Amino acid sequence: MKSEIVYFEETDSTNTRAKAYAEKGCPHGTLFVADCQSSGKGRRGRNWNAPAGCNIYMSLLLRPDITPKAAPMLTLVMAVSVAVAIREVCGVETKIKWPNDIVLHKKKLCGILTEMSAGAEGIDYVVIGAGVNVNQEEFPEELMDRAASIKKETGMTTDREELRQAIVENFWKYYKTFLETEDLSGIINLYHDLLVNKDCEVKVLEPGNEYTAYALGINEKGELLVKMRSGEVKRIYAGEVSVRGIYGYI
Ligand code: BTN
Repeated sequence: MKSEIVYFEETDSTNTRAKAYAEKGCPHGTLFVADCQSSGKGRRGRNWNAPAGCNIYMSLLLRPDITPKAAPMLTLVMAVSVAVAIREVCGVETKIKWPNDIVLHKKKLCGILTEMSAGAEGIDYVVIGAGVNVNQEEFPEELMDRAASIKKETGMTTDREELRQAIVENFWKYYKTFLETEDLSGIINLYHDLLVNKDCEVKVLEPGNEYTAYALGINEKGELLVKMRSGEVKRIYAGEVSVRGIYGYI
């Protein structure tokens, strides 16, 4: 599938633009790309640092015929697409921190924000936004030890457009696989190969409850399976919970 591209030199947020276009009937598959964002949005109401001339800020508008419950899995489909594209274009092995952060050298290189509009009839649209730090050399003080870019970590300059195209091509490939079963079973092995938390001790941060457990991997719905000290295996749903490494972010 080929995406029509709506390009902005500068915009508030490609997710916000994609949603506004979607409300006006913009078709499935449209890709929104910006050189910089003045109000880039992260998960949990955070900001996303989005300077000009160096990174990828893109949002893909989908109108999938799937149950709204399945939509959050698309975030994991995008995470796999980003990691595989970075390997193909840059020859750099990144990892996924569950559910959908891409990390390099234990620092965050890419974040993904999925937003959905659904009603009684099902999904109207889903917007999957990805911010990939590509050629950024300097980060604000507060992000310095947590944020990575391909350039900062490897010294290599990457053609942003080539990487963006590879991400989108991979996404359409894995999206097709996803649609066959409406779950992640077709890409679960690939996801596990990339999962930095697999077979590791993790700190699980539930609202009002924090505990340590052993991460076994994900199930076909994208939930993280963790083994508790008691031996019980618990399923963790990304919406409410996040995980960290024992000693830090990873
Ligand atoms: C996160 O917090 O990890 C998610 C960050 C998502 C950032 C991207 S940049 C392109 C798109 N537009 C936005 O405003 N956010 C997403």
